Amino acid sequence: VDAGNLVTFTPVSVEQGSSNARIPHISNDYEYQTLIPWGTPLVSGATGYDGDPDSRPTADEATRQVGIGHDGMWFYPENNRYSDFVANGYQLSSTRGLLVVNHEYGTNGHVLGKAMPDSLEDVRLSQHVHGVTVADIRKARGSDDWELVTDSRFNRRIHVNTEVTFSGPAAGSPLLQNLAGNPPMGTANNCGSGPTPWGTYITCEENFNGYFGSNEPDRQNDSAQDRYGFSNNGFGYGWHLFDERFDLANEDYANEQHRFGWCVEIDPFNPDAKPVKRTALGRFKHEAVAIKEIKGGHIAAYMGDDQVFDYCYKYESRQPWRNYIRRGESPLDDGRLYVARFNADGTGEWIELSVDNPKPFKDGKTLGDMFADQAELLVFTRLAADHVGATPMDRPEWATIGKDGEVYWALTNNGARTEPNAANPEAPNTDGHIIKTVDRNSNRFNWELFFLASDTRGTENVVTDPDAAWADDEGRLFIGTDGGQPDGLQDQLVVFDTTAPGKPEPKRLFVGVSGDEITGYATTPDYRYAFINVQHPGNGSPAATNFPAPDGSGRVPRDCTVVLRRKDGGRVGS
Ligand code: FEO
Ligand code: CA
Ligand code: CA
Ligand code: CA
Repeated sequence: VDAGNLVTFTPVSVEQGSSNARIPHISNDYEYQTLIPWGTPLVSGATGYDGDPDSRPTADEATRQVGIGHDGMWFYPENNRYSDFVANGYQLSSTRGLLVVNHEYGTNGHVLGKAMPDSLEDVRLSQHVHGVTVADIRKARGSDDWELVTDSRFNRRIHVNTEVTFSGPAAGSPLLQNLAGNPPMGTANNCGSGPTPWGTYITCEENFNGYFGSNEPDRQNDSAQDRYGFSNNGFGYGWHLFDERFDLANEDYANEQHRFGWCVEIDPFNPDAKPVKRTALGRFKHEAVAIKEIKGGHIAAYMGDDQVFDYCYKYESRQPWRNYIRRGESPLDDGRLYVARFNADGTGEWIELSVDNPKPFKDGKTLGDMFADQAELLVFTRLAADHVGATPMDRPEWATIGKDGEVYWALTNNGARTEPNAANPEAPNTDGHIIKTVDRNSNRFNWELFFLASDTRGTENVVTDPDAAWADDEGRLFIGTDGGQPDGLQDQLVVFDTTAPGKPEPKRLFVGVSGDEITGYATTPDYRYAFINVQHPGNGSPAATNFPAPDGSGRVPRDCTVVLRRKDGGRVGS
């Protein structure tokens, strides 16, 4: 491939992309199909939900259906377990595999058809559409389309009431135990994700605070709860009204709130294995994770905490990842967690968040002075990062790793910023930007501003609010957006050629529908098929769009996966 010439498709024009918000628009060189919308039955005989506004699944039925709020995902080619890799090398099928999809959220209005739950059954339905789906999918015979393999033994739903386990330094901490003695269950607000080199999936828990609440108007946050954004009303889900686990005032479940906000590992090829919350990666509003092998066979994991003025993080394993896997351990349980400080001169520091870090920070205090042990530090990662003076960013969403190991960080926007800093140069930052970092070693990096979205205002390439990010091995960078787009456009998928000289130019590949955002990115190993998600189309209103049902059908719009392919069978993004 020619550097600087990686993206040659005909972009969707502003005129075309803004012409009808009820349906998506795609480059003339491409076509798409939809796959596994919310409510798709994973086993035969299970009831499905097709968007009939007069009928909704029961809570029990929802556990056998694809969830809502499709977000981060990855495609695992069949026969791609780590044990298969040891025996045969990875079998990189591009015609069958497991698509693992996050279900970030669905509002009560969308899921229940009403603002608040009236019963525990309502709460359970809401909880069961959250989580993760593992879906066995394949190319349909004699067609370019993909289909779900109903009844595959790998098909699986993980939701808010699925048993999980904890591992890493905080696993045994009293901060993760309740007086009630209830076992750890569930994952929630599964936003972005990341694949591991050993063939598993990491799902990231983002706005977990919003599911907790309290009926006691006098209940007050402590300072840590303030920092994590808990409140008596939460985000209006009302789970706490019928499920004591999510009641902040219930002393028997006082530490349930600490059980969310983690990176959670799922082995898609082992349907019986419990998801594992990896505490060494810290507890914050985890957007997504990008993992790569670095020098010496260790792994580095790059992670954003998506909140205005929150931080960019990195984790590194202490040993080569293969050592852990061979011993039946995890590279994600034994490592160092860092937070980023960006200097104005284009350098930066990864500051280690450890009670053993001897350096004094604010008020001359070390992290060891601030936290009783590493478990406590990890449960309150945000407080540790505050203490060491990390750089407050404009909402770090996805990070992704480019072909040369550089890391792109999508900073979606920050309307609250009044003081610019070097790495966040706009105040307020309404359109967002992308930063590129290159690690010099474990503790130091270089950085540069890769893309300032406001530069595209008034051009054919206009795009704002970068969120989902994925870079391929040739130098393309795919960005999905989340935020009202200018010029009558809806949220979109754009592609950069990072090898092109001069200012990066995003090319518009796909435009979604009214009310949606474009989330996630996955590809088949041959790059002929890409998977993205259309999340909360129409914000659930059939008056806005019926997607993916035919326009005019009156159906409730449903979150779904969209499979993209070039008409000529070429590589997606080219
Ligand atoms: Fe779930 Fe920050 O996006
Ligand atoms: Ca979202
Ligand atoms: Ca996001
Ligand atoms: Ca977002």
